[in-house]
Amino acid sequence: MTDQLHVSTHPLTKHKLTYLRDVNTDHRTFRELVRELALLLCYEATKDLELTSKTVTTPMGDATGSEANEVIGLVPIMRAGLGLVDGIQELLPAVQVWHIGLYRDEETLRPVEYYNKLPEEPTVQVCLVLDPMLATGGSAIATVDILKKWGVNRIKFLGVLAAPEGVKALSEAHPDVPIHVAELDERLNDIGFIVPGLGDAGDRMFGT
Ligand code: PRP
Repeated sequence: MTDQLHVSTHPLTKHKLTYLRDVNTDHRTFRELVRELALLLCYEATKDLELTSKTVTTPMGDATGSEANEVIGLVPIMRAGLGLVDGIQELLPAVQVWHIGLYRDEETLRPVEYYNKLPEEPTVQVCLVLDPMLATGGSAIATVDILKKWGVNRIKFLGVLAAPEGVKALSEAHPDVPIHVAELDERLNDIGFIVPGLGDAGDRMFGT
């Protein structure tokens, strides 16, 4: 598997993912687990954020520290990507959220764009594409295409589960985009769902 792929090895990630997969987990708990997983994965995916030096005055004197002042664009792919936004938005110091609406055509499994309100010029330095599921990779590839056309070149994908097929497709289409996930699952089934997976992330998150 490509070295673009970063599968979390953190025990808390493994624990929360197991409960997330469980068919008995209700919508409220599902959303909370996705939020917590997003925070853990974001911590790992932002290890290379650029810092500038910043001095503050403590009650005891001056301390030289650092400031993370790059503007990060969170790009949730609707709907399911929305569940990954909240925690990360609170965690990062300088953040903008740019929604991209894509749904997967059930016949062709190809992504269809239905919402994109990006302004003409890029307003962020780095983008984190958020989607819990990297299945065929079509949605992630289309989103990275959109962001590169917008003018952003530092892009990462952050998701919960990936299928080998999606990792292969995304890494071939965009070899410069690191992929951060909680787990690499076995495969896609014949209707394009990740197995063993967690079912339909959007439906489980929103109770539909
Ligand atoms: C699901 C999922 C991803 C996409 C992944 O969305 O949330 O966005 O499919 O599949 P891919 O890697 O094969 O493109 P879906 O189309 O079900 O829309 P939803 O989030 O609105 O439920």
